[in-house]
Amino acid sequence: MEVYADYAATTPVKQEVVDKMMDIYAVHYGNPSSIHSVGRNARKHLDDSRRSVKQALGAKQNEIIFTSGATESNNTAIKGIAYAQRYKGNHIITTKIEHHSVLHVFEQLEKEGFDVTYLDVDHQGLVQLDQLKEVITEQTILVSIMFVNNEIGTVQPMYEIDSIVADSNALLHVDAVQAIGHLDINFHDFNIDAMSITAHKFGGPKGVGALVVKEGTPLQFLQLGGEQEAKRRAGTENLPQIVGFAEALKLATEHLNENNIHLMNLKNQFLVSLQERSIPFELNGSMTESTGHIVNLYFPFIDVETILTLLDLANIYVSSGSACTAGTTTPSHVLVAMYEHDDRAKHSVRFSFNEQTTEQEVKYIATEIHKIYHKFKEDI
Ligand SMILES: Cc1ncc(COP(=O)(O)O)c(C=O)c1O
Repeated sequence: MEVYADYAATTPVKQEVVDKMMDIYAVHYGNPSSIHSVGRNARKHLDDSRRSVKQALGAKQNEIIFTSGATESNNTAIKGIAYAQRYKGNHIITTKIEHHSVLHVFEQLEKEGFDVTYLDVDHQGLVQLDQLKEVITEQTILVSIMFVNNEIGTVQPMYEIDSIVADSNALLHVDAVQAIGHLDINFHDFNIDAMSITAHKFGGPKGVGALVVKEGTPLQFLQLGGEQEAKRRAGTENLPQIVGFAEALKLATEHLNENNIHLMNLKNQFLVSLQERSIPFELNGSMTESTGHIVNLYFPFIDVETILTLLDLANIYVSSGSACTAGTTTPSHVLVAMYEHDDRAKHSVRFSFNEQTTEQEVKYIATEIHKIYHKFKEDI
């Protein structure tokens, strides 16, 4: 058996999505900025995709900016808001558990003279609302907090965060990458000013995503050289990818409830299968404030490199944390922030599932971990 359980890193592209994209590559190949009918035809597909994305997210059409994915969206939102609002204040806030496409931007802004607060999280990976209230000042211009953490699946209390930020002078940016397809997000139910998403986490292609920007949000756009995306993101639109993104988002949104039930059941089955085999483990994160697709576990009996290698030999593909830290020995900054030391991070593995994952697959993973546990028990 072969089990891919690294869907939080990326997902296969759905066949319906591939079909739509192929049609654009081969038939509707025009440049949406060309004024002849081939261009106008491409423009229609671009407009249709934007309409479909805005519907899925409960946003307005002019609030969707297509990008090359969440790394670009996060960079654009954070730098764009920080530079545009600098005349109002110099203080910006994020958390210690953000994706590096957020954290590294804050570190860069810190070097440029911004005053940065990195919020702590508790053992479940949750931001402390009291700390957020305490650190926000009149000088705070931006707060950036992720919706769902990509390593532990913890869901932040976004309505509460949103209302704290709304009572201040600051704007709110949310990295919603791991929330899409798992939480029913209606952009205008919140006071979020900018929200990043990427297609490849829910059955769409890599290299395409969006920044959803609330109408009127002051944002300095840094990419020059074209008038695309209402002058906010220069460069010929990657139409096949955008069409694929819109289709994948539509499918993910339509099947959200049934997928969530499936994933929650799988998560429970996986944990029960490990318990039934008497494998020692602890959950990193929260059992209740979390999505079903990510299960991060601490195995005290083995280090992460060894277990990842042994699982790979058993054709089980998982990772130690985010995709960018996979394959390195650097302990996860998320787990270090949660447990205040890196020992736990050195013994923890992220399993991530999607709607294609089966009960048989999670049981196979549990069986293989059981074999590894017994081998290591004997060796000790
Ligand atoms: C929470 C989060 N933010 C941002 C990204 C970056 O997205 P992209 O691969 O589209 O640049 C990822 C992907 O790993 C992620 O999980």
